Amino acid sequence: MSTVALKDVSKVFQDGTVAVDTVNLDVNDGEFMVLLGPSGCGKSTVLRMVAGLEDPSSGAVMLDGEVANDLPPRDRKIAMVFQDFALYPHLTVGDNIAFPLRLAGVEPTPRGERVTDVASALGIGDVLGRKPSQLSGGQRQRVAMGRAIVRRPGLFLMDEPLSNLDSGLRAELRAEISGLTRELGVTTIYVTHDQAEALTMADRVAIMRKGVLQDVGTPTQVYGRPATLYVAAFLGSPRMNLLEASVYVHLDRYVTLNLGEQSLYLPWDDIRSRAVAHYHGERIVVGMRAEALTPVAPDTPGDVLQGRIRHLEHHGHESLAFLDIGATAIMVDEMGGPVETAADGQRGLRRFGQVMQRLAGRAEAPASAPAGRGNRTSVLNDPGRHHRRPAELAVRLAPYPAVSAGHPLAVQVRMDALHFFDERGDRIDVGWR
Ligand SMILES: Nc1ncnc2c1ncn2[C@@H]1O[C@H](COP(=O)(O)OP(=O)(O)O)[C@@H](O)[C@H]1O
Ligand SMILES: [Mg+2]
Repeated sequence: MSTVALKDVSKVFQDGTVAVDTVNLDVNDGEFMVLLGPSGCGKSTVLRMVAGLEDPSSGAVMLDGEVANDLPPRDRKIAMVFQDFALYPHLTVGDNIAFPLRLAGVEPTPRGERVTDVASALGIGDVLGRKPSQLSGGQRQRVAMGRAIVRRPGLFLMDEPLSNLDSGLRAELRAEISGLTRELGVTTIYVTHDQAEALTMADRVAIMRKGVLQDVGTPTQVYGRPATLYVAAFLGSPRMNLLEASVYVHLDRYVTLNLGEQSLYLPWDDIRSRAVAHYHGERIVVGMRAEALTPVAPDTPGDVLQGRIRHLEHHGHESLAFLDIGATAIMVDEMGGPVETAADGQRGLRRFGQVMQRLAGRAEAPASAPAGRGNRTSVLNDPGRHHRRPAELAVRLAPYPAVSAGHPLAVQVRMDALHFFDERGDRIDVGWR
């Protein structure tokens, strides 16, 4: 039994850096929770506070329902695995895994049994006699996992444990790690900046940006109904298409979404049209993932957008067409840039998480305006310094299609798969979650 709860937890470092900003998060017993966000957003700091390696500046870290702020790390029944795992080079694999048990004074016979069990669960049962230098990278990471898990921790904390491995091995170990922790029923908090890793491994994902928790939910929830523009843009590949739209309400009939030269019509019997109708005469952000767009014949009636292919990308199993439909793009920029790169003014304008582009007549957002959650300024900036960027809709095509740049292309839009965000970057929706 092991649960974790963060109650209004903040961490401000001595130099004034706000690494974690009023985070509230519950991790259930046996749950595999992934903390996701770009480098520098505060993931490791959260993990270190749970482990007791860092004190919260305010708020409470609760373990199994008890405030644990003053509990020393060794009393927390926690095991941690890092990116830079260090094995004892002079010890065999078996002795490396057995090491924590030896320290804890476990007798040789049960110790040997537990090492064998863990090693076979991790698929390294046949290399127990080898030294770390004789192992592959993946095997070494398995040994590090084995050493952490052999103590049967109640809580497993992993900080980007796969980032140093190459991609094939990473995919393989992803499945093994989530399989193993589920089998053991160990509550796990797993940190990564890789959205694909998060979506494939997690029971639930918690997405952070600049110390602020943006969204928490199952992969289906955060992907299917992202709480903020930032989350929408962070999850999925190709990235969600984000367009500026102006809203006009025709009561009892439909809501028109004007996307530059073309329009889409949200029928009044779609319950979301009530929520979008509040923005009559204003601009919002419309998000459409590639899976909401199907290429069709140009004269197809219905919810169809006409465009011209700007360029094509071939990915082997599919090709992506980037379609100019005469709409304006909303850019969620530099998702991964660390905060300090914003030092010089020019970069500052484009920095990490900033949403560019315009909403004529709206207050100019400061250069550091974050998108949604913890921010009350507009994400649809004043046009002044930026030229309008034409939106390029990413559309999936069959591999190596018989079209090329410059060709016209029409796409049918699944209206029920559209996402709407307000100028703060918060989701516009009805009765969700
Ligand atoms: N000991 C420290 N002193 C000052 N700032 C720190 C310290 N540790 C981390 N930070 C800063 O806190 C922020 C969050 O860091 P971190 O939790 O390591 O992010 P992540 O793990 O998401 O990459 C970053 O801006 C980082 O530079
Ligand atoms: Mg980190």
